[in-house]
Amino acid sequence: MAKLLSGIEVSKSIRDRLKKEVDKLILNGQPRPKLVVILVGEHPASLSYVTRKKQDAESVGFDSELIRLPVKISEKELLQEVQRCNKDATIHGILVQLPLPDHINKNAIIQAIEPSKDVDGFHPLNVGEFHTTGDALVPCTPKGVLTLLKATNTNLVGKHAVVIGRSNIVGKPAAMLLLSEHMTVTIAHSKTTNIETIVRQADVIVAAVGIPKFVKQDWVKPGAIVIDVGVNRIELDSGKTKLVGDVDFDAIEPIASWITPVPGGVGPMTIASLLENTLTAYKKAQR
Ligand code: GUN
Repeated sequence: MAKLLSGIEVSKSIRDRLKKEVDKLILNGQPRPKLVVILVGEHPASLSYVTRKKQDAESVGFDSELIRLPVKISEKELLQEVQRCNKDATIHGILVQLPLPDHINKNAIIQAIEPSKDVDGFHPLNVGEFHTTGDALVPCTPKGVLTLLKATNTNLVGKHAVVIGRSNIVGKPAAMLLLSEHMTVTIAHSKTTNIETIVRQADVIVAAVGIPKFVKQDWVKPGAIVIDVGVNRIELDSGKTKLVGDVDFDAIEPIASWITPVPGGVGPMTIASLLENTLTAYKKAQR
């Protein structure tokens, strides 16, 4: 039976550490780190995510502001808001929640964020630094995945990771991060042929494909570590809805060595990584 890899527990230990660091900063008369989260529109899931980001930021002693903007805001007005935050020296981290409405060019907004405040690690400069020097703000979900893997105390060097999914937010940066840990990395996705044969070779599976219960029991090598990034809401026969991941948890739990639950696995880690990135951005700004 797999051991449960709890993002709730690991993220709490990260928040405890950050809170101690912030308390020390304040005792030393330093300014408070500040995270600004920008939400365009009323998307309920996004609203719940950004509310949680603000609450968790405050729980470690950061200042945090949630800027809510109307869904019809123009790209130009949103750019102006980002630029205002760029110029404000009391703000150390800026996050624009995705997805944005269709009339706004997501890439233009990401590229407008001052790279040193880009706590999502989505700006091309951070992506480039991440892929070359390694000195960059790293996207939060992949960073959380790696922190969870390290919490298993498994030696990752030379092991085979199969990342399922190729998004800019999770799949691609997760693969790069695991590569920098000296893992052998394969990226598979929804169009990969014979995917089960590839996944069966994995010592570590990172499922980030966005398809409920995509990874089946017979795709998993006994003893593999399974990290489930998926958050899918499915309707049950009873008419109720339930959150499930990208792996068939009930079937895989008996054979994996470690497995993350959904919810309570990668989700809380994404926010913990965001807080870590905000403190990193703050420290660089103080130098
Ligand atoms: N939407 C879903 N995940 C993310 C994330 O990590 N950052 C931002 N900005 N938006 C998201």
